[in-house]
Amino acid sequence: MPIDLSQAPIILTGDRTTGPLHIGHYVGSLRSRVTLQDTHRQFLLLADLQALTDNAHDPEKVRRNVLAVALDYLAVGIDPAKTTICVQSALPALAELTTLYLNFVSVARLERNPTIKDEIRARGFGRDIPAGFLCYPVSQAADITAFRASIVPVGEDQAPLIEQTNEIVRRINNQTGRALLVEAEAVIPRIGRLPGIDGKAKMSKSQGNAIPLSATPDDIRQAVHRMYTDPNHVRASDPGTVEGNVVFTYLDAFDTDETAVAELKAQYRRGGLGDVAVKRRLDSILQELLAPIRERRAAYARDPGYVLDLLRAGTAKAKAVTQATLDEVRSGLGLFSLDGG
Ligand code: TRP
Repeated sequence: MPIDLSQAPIILTGDRTTGPLHIGHYVGSLRSRVTLQDTHRQFLLLADLQALTDNAHDPEKVRRNVLAVALDYLAVGIDPAKTTICVQSALPALAELTTLYLNFVSVARLERNPTIKDEIRARGFGRDIPAGFLCYPVSQAADITAFRASIVPVGEDQAPLIEQTNEIVRRINNQTGRALLVEAEAVIPRIGRLPGIDGKAKMSKSQGNAIPLSATPDDIRQAVHRMYTDPNHVRASDPGTVEGNVVFTYLDAFDTDETAVAELKAQYRRGGLGDVAVKRRLDSILQELLAPIRERRAAYARDPGYVLDLLRAGTAKAKAVTQATLDEVRSGLGLFSLDGG
């Protein structure tokens, strides 16, 4: 019998729908979402509106990837009977809450947000930053509060967004004179961000250094082959460095036999262990991990009507939850109501 989760804490996470998910998403968040769905009320948001804030020139990409990301969720084992998957742009209450919250945040505060600051720099926006992009933390605050989420599992880079959310929560609660909205806690995963196969800090599709969850056996083999190791470790007999060596970083993330990995590291440091042997081990681990994910993904992809039905049902449920929060905020703030002034 399924356990009763009606009083369990609510979790909200989501992903911008800008491309299919990769193994960095898997270790950083997808893996824990699969576990958390057994003990929490979990909502997953396909954040297509947030994706538009820096992809307004390519809405087709954003649209196409709504289904692609949903397939990735199902492929890794997100169970739609336990987790509610919903589409951001089909939830008008989120947009309305964003509009209300925008009046409780200053432009200066948004410009000071460390996540936004970094992203503005990385994207080279300068003063030409889309207003929607500058304000996406407010939209994310709307997402989190609308679902009454108390837990938001996100990467470290997103922590300032939760802080900003909680500032908005306090301001709204202060204005309405009661604890109308719930403060949220960021839960940062133990294993931080997985580097790209080239050793660069961030794995991303646009950098071409990612292994997507849908990678073919050959894609995986080639990615592992190209993986950055220790450039000074030329012969197998040379002593090698494990720190910053992507193959070992990935073994730490994916190999469940910690003792074996520790031994390999020691041997690599001493000299006498070649890159090819370590890569072979990683290749077989990744092949084993991704084969069932790839197969499940392909099976769902053959039945887009079924996936669409799941999204319709999830979004309908999310609509009720988010609309109820909006109604409370509207009346809490004392907005005019056609039902009675
Ligand atoms: N910012 C998240 C990302 O870039 C996506 C997101 C949108 C999100 N709304 C959210 C995450 C609410 C957690 C909670 O992937």
